[in-house]
Order: sequence, then structure tokens, then C-alpha cells
Amino acid sequence: MRKESPGFGLGLRPVHYPDFMREPQAVDWLEIISENYMIPGGKPLAMLDAILERYPVAMHGVSLSIGSTDGLDAHYLAELKALAKHAQPLWISDHLCWTGVQGRNAHDLLPLPYSEEALRLVVRHVNQVQDTLGQRIVLENVSSYLDYRSSEMSEWEFLRQVAEQADCLLLLDVNNTYVSSINHGFDAIGFMDHLPVDRVQQIHLAGHSDHGDYIVDTHDHPVAEPVWELYRHACARFGEVATMIERDDNIPDLGVLIAELNRARTLAAGILDAETPQKLEAVS
Ligand SMILES: [Fe+2]
Repeated sequence: MRKESPGFGLGLRPVHYPDFMREPQAVDWLEIISENYMIPGGKPLAMLDAILERYPVAMHGVSLSIGSTDGLDAHYLAELKALAKHAQPLWISDHLCWTGVQGRNAHDLLPLPYSEEALRLVVRHVNQVQDTLGQRIVLENVSSYLDYRSSEMSEWEFLRQVAEQADCLLLLDVNNTYVSSINHGFDAIGFMDHLPVDRVQQIHLAGHSDHGDYIVDTHDHPVAEPVWELYRHACARFGEVATMIERDDNIPDLGVLIAELNRARTLAAGILDAETPQKLEAVS
């Protein structure tokens, strides 16, 4: 179902362009923010072309707004398709969220109510996107700080239903899972154990800010120890899955991120060598 893993990657950030241009780096693939390159020309696209000559690239968007009641933005989809044609990415991902309504953009990845009505809307939109792009998309679980009285199922059940009903793939953000599990008080292991193994195409690792009784998904710290522990479980459950580290603020030298990525490589190799991935049936 999912594509074979290309290995261990990083999110491409402009501050690291010179490093990637200077010499080959110990990174198997890179994830680009789609919107940064959905432009007719200029320096970012020239840089992307240079990157494409050197690394496989996955496209990761933040503006699809798959859950918005406004419907999908046809212009955005056309630009996304044009970039995909140009970049020939490993896959195309975005978030299971909404980012605005009535034409207003909140510039945030807002959680959805996990209701039957929202599920029908998201499945319809995913079908529309996949028909337009001519390929499956990959949807990521977001961090959240609130939930809705109108929710009728858990987030993990909603993710599973979207993936199965729309025949799409999933991006498991282990940090987001941890952040939401603390903020809402659910079991992060149970969350992961409910996701269908063969639909998890990619894993995100990232850092957060811990405020004691709540956690904010800031991507400005190294991956936290509890997230590494969850990643250990993810490796055992999902097997060999493309994994990368996201860092969006307080960005260190590339070597620091590569060292952190190597921790993921070592941890995953240890798990995969020690045991056959558990192809567990979903918890009902
Ligand atoms: Fe993420």
C-alpha cells in the first residue's frame, strides 16, 4: 500500500541551502514546504532545481485546508499539481485540519471536530484532491489544544476512517501525537496502535515547548525524550517508515540536525534488527 521507505530525511530550510550545495550530506531525502515553491520563478525555484538534482524530495503543504467547509481552492490545487509535475516528489502531504473559513486564512493548522459529518466532508475532499493530482495524498495528524463537543469519535478513529474511506496515506507526526496526548490526556501508544500499518507512509519527529500542564508544538527544540520513546514504539509497530526531523525555529547548524537524525537511524535499526515489525491488527 505505502511506497518503500527512502530512509531518513530532513525538512529543507533556506538557511541550509549552502550546505546542501557545497557537498553531499548524510541525508537520504528532503521534505520541502510546497507553498515556498508554488511561484512562477525566482531564486527559490532555482534552488529547488539544484536540490532536485541532488536529493529525492517529498512535498509537504500547509494550505490545502482539506477540512474547510469553504471547499477546496481550485487555483491552489492547480499550482500544487504544477509543482508536483515539476518536482516529481516521492509523495505529496498536507495536514488533516482546516486553516480558515469564508475566505479568511487563520494561518494555523486547526483541528477538526471528529464527527461523521466532518468525516464525509474530508473524504469527499481527499477524493477530489487525489483525482486532481492523479495520486494518493498523505495526511498528517496535527497538534491540538482544544476539542469539540460535536466530536463523535476519537482522533485516531477519524484518521483511520479518512485513510480507509478515501484510500489515502498517513503521515504520523510522533511529536504531534505526544503533544496532543498530554494536552488532552489520551494514550499516545493507543493512538498509534489504532492506525493502519500499511498506510503510514512517513513519520515526523520534532521538538516542542513544555509549559508544565500543557505543551506547545513549536518546532524550536531538539526532539524530546518522551517523543523518542514513542518513536521506538512506532518503529516496532510500523516497521521501516521514512522518518524525518522538522525544525522551523531556533534552527541549528545542519550538522546538529544530522546528528539528531542519526539518533533516529540508530534507534530504528536497533528495533528493526531486533524484531520483525509487528503487523498488528487494529484495535477495535
Ligand atoms: Fe509534522
